Amino acid sequence: MESYKHKTVILPSALSLFMFLIFSVVNVGAQTLPPARTDGFVYKNHRVNSDTIIIEAFYDPVCPDSRDSWPPLKKALHYFGSHTWLVVHLLPLPYHDNAFVASRALHIVNNLNTSATFPLLEHFFKYQEKFYNAQTRNLSRAVIVEEIVKFATEVVGSSYYSVIKSGFNDTKTDLKTRISFKYSTSRGVYGTPFFFVNGFLLPDNGSTIDFKGWKSTIDTLIGAQGSKGRFFL
Ligand SMILES: *[C@@H]1O[C@H](CO)[C@@H](O)[C@H](O)[C@H]1NC(C)=O
Ligand SMILES: *[C@@H]1O[C@H](CO)[C@@H](O)[C@H](O)[C@H]1NC(C)=O
Ligand SMILES: *[C@@H]1O[C@H](CO)[C@@H](O)[C@H](O)[C@H]1NC(C)=O
Ligand SMILES: *[C@@H]1O[C@H](CO)[C@@H](O)[C@H](O)[C@H]1NC(C)=O
Repeated sequence: MESYKHKTVILPSALSLFMFLIFSVVNVGAQTLPPARTDGFVYKNHRVNSDTIIIEAFYDPVCPDSRDSWPPLKKALHYFGSHTWLVVHLLPLPYHDNAFVASRALHIVNNLNTSATFPLLEHFFKYQEKFYNAQTRNLSRAVIVEEIVKFATEVVGSSYYSVIKSGFNDTKTDLKTRISFKYSTSRGVYGTPFFFVNGFLLPDNGSTIDFKGWKSTIDTLIGAQGSKGRFFL
């Protein structure tokens, strides 16, 4: 009985705190959505027309499957040139401890120099093991941020150290990274890598597509465009 009485007192206040938290989270989101600019990092900006094959890649910079899927996709983009157009969206996976900080570093660097975004993404792919959960188990968040700031300067140059560091103090870069997360999840993406081609999810699990796979997918689409007015479904 005593515990019952205790519960009836605690429960409403716990519930209202919970409701308050939910409301504040929703409220913060509502202020920032839709974002002023669409999410994503465009690889090699060029003209897009109705025949351009639009590829959307959803990546986590510290995910090994994302890392492995990038070289064949990059090769295909170079092979097909202006027939293709790629935008990368980030999905920092919650079970990768440093994914959000790494993704935020990409947004910070993108703000400073858009040409450095893909070099930094590739740098993360190359050395991501340094930021895996097991390797960073004993490191504080402050140490991780410091390591990632230094890591980013390896790409953009040491003169950018303080501006990248203060980027981690700027709530705008936090919000941009949240928008990437929200965008990816709003598209139904729940793992990385995920690829959409002309708006549709590729049937295969993206991490297994090699260059031949990309070439055949894109060749088929370009071939189908040749026969105007016919639909292959
Ligand atoms: C921007 O980044 C690119 C690629 O890393 C580099 O070549 C260029 O010099 C950078 N520009 C500035 C202003 O730092
Ligand atoms: C983390 O600390 C524990 C306890 O000191 C140690 O046994 C372990 O090897 C450390 N792990 C790493 C990755 O440094
Ligand atoms: C970040 O913000 C904290 C608290 O406002 C401040 O003490 C610190 O100096 C700032 N760091 C940078 C690099 O701007
Ligand atoms: C994709 O397939 C690979 C190999 O079959 C597997 O290791 C990986 O977990 C899969 N990823 C997802 C997101 O299903």
